Amino acid sequence: MEGTISNLCIRAPREKAETLRRALQRLEILDQSRRITASNGFVLIPITRNLSPDEMNVIAKLSQVEVIRSELPSPPTRPKNLISALDGTLPPHLLALLPRSFDIVGDIAIIEDLAPELLPHGEILAKAMMQVHPRVRTVLLKTGKVEGDFRIPSFAVLAGEEKYETIHTEYGVKLKVDLSKAYFSSRLATEHHRVASQVRDSEIVVDMFAGVGPFSIMIAKKVSAKVFSIDINPNAIALLKESLRLNRLKGEVIPFCGDVRIIAPRLKGVADRVIMNLPASSLDYLDVAIATLKSCGGTIHIYLFAKDDPIKNAKEMFNSRLNGQVKKCEVLNSRIVKPVAPREWQVVIDALVVP
Ligand SMILES: C[S@@+](CC[C@H](N)C(=O)[O-])C[C@H]1O[C@@H](n2cnc3c(N)ncnc32)[C@H](O)[C@@H]1O
Repeated sequence: MEGTISNLCIRAPREKAETLRRALQRLEILDQSRRITASNGFVLIPITRNLSPDEMNVIAKLSQVEVIRSELPSPPTRPKNLISALDGTLPPHLLALLPRSFDIVGDIAIIEDLAPELLPHGEILAKAMMQVHPRVRTVLLKTGKVEGDFRIPSFAVLAGEEKYETIHTEYGVKLKVDLSKAYFSSRLATEHHRVASQVRDSEIVVDMFAGVGPFSIMIAKKVSAKVFSIDINPNAIALLKESLRLNRLKGEVIPFCGDVRIIAPRLKGVADRVIMNLPASSLDYLDVAIATLKSCGGTIHIYLFAKDDPIKNAKEMFNSRLNGQVKKCEVLNSRIVKPVAPREWQVVIDALVVP
């Protein structure tokens, strides 16, 4: 085909557009400087040059396509970072106070902490975040600490849709989350994955404080284990059940709603592994976890808050609470999970325990 390269594109049926876009990207022919555009039920995909006969063969196998010429718009330029998105709207002394980091849960961004001077500019800041991260639909500001039995913080909507529900994906696991109704933190993804990677086929796991189910579902996605998932918050269990429908699982997740002290006695002596992710009071439930383990023993993953020398302190707290309750305990591993306050951390201990 003759003509200028600047307006060359491939016309393809809409349902084939994504497959085709990837193929063109692999062939390094996709023109990133022009926007893929819909036109009368078709999609026009810009290309940088004409296709060779071999390339045309590859593309034609994917779909009925045609190389045509059409003027396509350039993609919108979006700011690379918050400073450039806010350029000219906030004075330099306020730019210096911008939050260093934020969490993304599905299509919701969460700012943990905002300098008081920036509070009156929350909406401008949030809109700038949405420009930098176009997939974000809502920006929330955490306004209260993680509190109560259900461990839910409070939030204010700074910009975007007034919503708290989303689907978050971590390590390929889809999780239905409602930040106003049940605890969820995207900062625990590595930990969910680390623990799930240790579980073997046919294990029995008790996830004592399961929340919306990130540990439970990741385990059941990876291996054919049976996971009993307990949480006292009915909303957390309802969300967990929704997520079970979103994932293809090798294993089985059996949800229970209620206080672990009431539920766990039904699971006496069954578990190869117990997960105790309630760092503020996990030690108070150690007796329940021990009673849940098989008589030959099993692994406990216990989460604690600890100060100063956090790993040493966490191990001391764990060992002193365990004292006299078990035949044998060997700490296999311990690590800092995340900071939670100045000089305070969440720590995990993995221990082999024989009741
Ligand atoms: C820190 S969240 C952890 C959630 C989940 N494991 C995760 O990683 O996202 C602790 C959970 O424990 C639940 N919980 C608190 N006390 C409980 C109890 N006595 N019995 C069962 N669940 C409880 C809360 O509702 C909350 O969902």
